[in-house]
Amino acid sequence: MKIDLKAPAKINLSLDALYKREDGYHEVEMVMTTIDLADRLELELISSDEIILDVRAHFIPNDHRNLVYQAALLLKEKYNVRMGARITLDKQIPVSAGLAGGSTDAAAALKGLNELWKLGLSLEELAELSARIGSDIAFCLYGGTAFATGRGEVIQKLPMMPSCWIILAKPSISISTPSVYKELKLDEVEHPDTKRMLAGIEAGDLDAICDSMGNVLESVTLEKNPKVKQLKQKMLEFGADAAMMSGSGPTVFAIVKQYSRAKRVYNGLRGFCSEVYMVRPWNDEGINK
Ligand code: C5P
Repeated sequence: MKIDLKAPAKINLSLDALYKREDGYHEVEMVMTTIDLADRLELELISSDEIILDVRAHFIPNDHRNLVYQAALLLKEKYNVRMGARITLDKQIPVSAGLAGGSTDAAAALKGLNELWKLGLSLEELAELSARIGSDIAFCLYGGTAFATGRGEVIQKLPMMPSCWIILAKPSISISTPSVYKELKLDEVEHPDTKRMLAGIEAGDLDAICDSMGNVLESVTLEKNPKVKQLKQKMLEFGADAAMMSGSGPTVFAIVKQYSRAKRVYNGLRGFCSEVYMVRPWNDEGINK
């Protein structure tokens, strides 16, 4: 038996951190949406009782350092599974980019293994389990557009993102999420208007969504990395309706309504950055269910 799954990347339409909690995490309010830039996973039952991870990309570990491996092991141990699996991971999403690439792979692995090993777990059960290995995996399990609270693992589904073009630019800089959160000065940042963002999504109003985008982590990553700031400015100069950094960065994205203008932003950015993508929101929410 073989299962093929797509694992889409996400962008943050807003990211607010409210306060630092006693467990060291930040209490957050995030509006996120999946985009049609996706990794592909193939899962296959094997005769031996082990997890074999085969990664089709350079410099990505295939052992316990990979969230896919951790997810498979977690499911196997928790439900005492006496079967194995070979998981082939074909990476398309940039790594350490603020696009939840590792988390979406782990989410797809949980869904696929639930089916392969016939565990019959609900999405809610998988989401609860996933929080043990990462805050963003729960969102990736649901996909579409959602409001994430808690440390990011409490998910409330929202209506689909209105149709638009999304241009992503990933500078070749490595960002450590824990250090960005560590340097965040909550009393100095401008907090996004999350209520307005939620109302914009509910109304399917792209102008309101563009106007209420905000990410508190920009205050750290943009200030320390002028290249990221420059890419955001260029997006706006080339005609983006809105531009912002996703997650802790370094990827920045532009939202553009019109195709011709989106093409202009895409072509213009390619002169400044080697990794540029033009995608759409991922609204096919049924694909991995
Ligand atoms: O949950 P995850 O492993 O993805 O988080 C990575 C790191 O980001 C955490 O160890 C923490 O330093 C920081 N973080 C945080 N508050 C959150 C999510 C992540 O401070 N809500």
